[in-house]
Amino acid sequence: MSDTAVVVSMFERIGGTVTIDRLVESFYRRMDELPEAACIRAMHPSDLDPTKQVLKRYLTEWTGGAKLYSVEKGHPRLRQRHMGFPIGSAERDAWLLCMRGALDETVADGAARQELDVALSRLADWMRNQAGNPHDAGGHPA
Ligand code: HEM
Repeated sequence: MSDTAVVVSMFERIGGTVTIDRLVESFYRRMDELPEAACIRAMHPSDLDPTKQVLKRYLTEWTGGAKLYSVEKGHPRLRQRHMGFPIGSAERDAWLLCMRGALDETVADGAARQELDVALSRLADWMRNQAGNPHDAGGHPA
């Protein structure tokens, strides 16, 4: 038995850059097309390409791949970066609808998909900045 622990990142488990690219493309395609996501699509610029590039870099780093986001942008401070957009439960649910569809389409490994779903659901919930977010009482999970 080896005493060397092999730690495989989520980035590697799901298939690296190819899967992150597909996930983000699928996510924004859904945001663009689903009527349920119109409320959050309207918050974004008409050209989604720059936003896609940023989310790809962020998710690469967040899943344990190369630190593509923070070298360019510094600490994510994601909740703070979203403060300019009114995000309540409806917006969170719309975001998660797009992300769940994208995960189902692009992440083949069921266990990895489930872990990502749980973690991203927490993150989206924490992003709410309209009335009723229990996290406003404090805490800073990311
Ligand atoms: C919960 C509902 C959410 C809404 C409505 C929302 C909406 C937005 C909007 C409107 C932007 C600006 C896009 C642009 O101007 O190009 C943005 C940026 C971003 N969002 Fe979200 N978002 C949500 C949740 C999340 C979550 C859960 C994550 C993390 C996985 C995330 C990651 C990002 C990143 C990385 C950026 C770019 C920030 C930067 O400029 O550095 N968002 N989001």
